[in-house]
Amino acid sequence: MPHPYVLLSAAVSLDGYLDDTGPERLLLSSPEDFDRVDEVRASVDAILVGAGTIRADNPRLLVNSPERRAARRARGLPEYPLKVTVSGSGDLDPAAAFWHTGGDKILYTTDKGAERARSLGLATDVVPLGTELDWRRLLTHLHDQRGVRRLMVEGGGVIHTQLLTQGLADELQLVLAPLFVGDPDAPRLFGPGSYQGGRLRLCETRQIGDVVLMRYEPTAPGTGELPVAADHHWLALACELAAQCPPSQTAFSVGAVIVAADGTELARGWSREGSDPLAHAEEAALAKADPDDPRLATATVYSSLEPCARRASRPASCSRLILQAGVRRVVTAWREPDTFVPGADGSGVLREGGATVLVLPEHEERAKAPNSHLF
Ligand SMILES: NC(=O)c1ccc[n+]([C@@H]2O[C@H](COP(=O)([O-])OP(=O)(O)OC[C@H]3O[C@@H](n4cnc5c(N)ncnc54)[C@H](OP(=O)(O)O)[C@@H]3O)[C@@H](O)[C@H]2O)c1
Repeated sequence: MPHPYVLLSAAVSLDGYLDDTGPERLLLSSPEDFDRVDEVRASVDAILVGAGTIRADNPRLLVNSPERRAARRARGLPEYPLKVTVSGSGDLDPAAAFWHTGGDKILYTTDKGAERARSLGLATDVVPLGTELDWRRLLTHLHDQRGVRRLMVEGGGVIHTQLLTQGLADELQLVLAPLFVGDPDAPRLFGPGSYQGGRLRLCETRQIGDVVLMRYEPTAPGTGELPVAADHHWLALACELAAQCPPSQTAFSVGAVIVAADGTELARGWSREGSDPLAHAEEAALAKADPDDPRLATATVYSSLEPCARRASRPASCSRLILQAGVRRVVTAWREPDTFVPGADGSGVLREGGATVLVLPEHEERAKAPNSHLF
């Protein structure tokens, strides 16, 4: 199910804390960076914080700039992004500023938490999600029922940790502030958990006053049927590669990337790459990977179009080549249409061979774009 793009935003001290243990909120960002945060808020459909942050900081979470609010109105958006919070207990202060400032609010909670929230008369929509709170259900609800396409998550650490370890964060915007907290009881940005192995991708660094903003993307593919944020990023890259293919009237333009479990790119390829007019994208990528590389067994192949099931030009189809290489997870944007090979079912071949195949239709239009001349 489609989710919003999830952007985690936080500021930390040099020793990795989100706050101190004093009664007042510790201001970590510089004034210039608070203005940047205001700009990011103005650009999203919703802002989410955990119940712990409402209790500790009593935040208002507004777009403070009148110009930015006016620009939102001019674009047909509500003046303020939807404010979202998450609580298992439902035990929140009805007088908290969160409920009484800005635009619409929504509380996601458990069935039990909803009873408590309603008894407290919180000024918000209350959405119970069952006995436990399921983040995928929450994100699907925000996407489908509230039209949220970009979600900014402003903490605290419990929320950030869950979204990152569950592979649901598309981006981390981290600000490093030049001060120390030094108190082991203070809240940390990330708690213990099962994080991706390997390295995240550093997308940007920016000095803002005396703080530094770092933007990271997760890189590690998912491990089963459920897509994670990095799966979307790699598939988007495969679609970009498809756009680089020399055009053809007799074959699709396709991009492919092979990615190890720790998020390391092993190889990439695209249709008709180099001087081979018959090359398929997956074939071109696999030809660059070391066939003895043990990482292939746990790697994922991303292909903008479903790998082919049959081909006249070469002895082995791309589905067979993928299985022969030992890869057992494939993510694609678009099932192969009947244009050249009627009834092709590369996904069926792959599944029969023991591979997991995910089709992410959110990327289908981008995968089709370089092939529009064929239809
Ligand atoms: N520096 C920064 O950028 C920044 C930003 C935000 C916050 N902070 C700091 O972070 C601290 C608060 O962070 P925190 O980690 O303690 O709290 P938090 O992440 O804001 O909220 C945790 C609470 O959210 C609810 N929750 C989270 N996951 C849940 C789940 N899966 N199911 C049900 N409920 C769930 C629970 O509420 P219930 O207890 O109601 O069940 C839980 O206690 C504060 O000190 C604040 O100042 C700093």
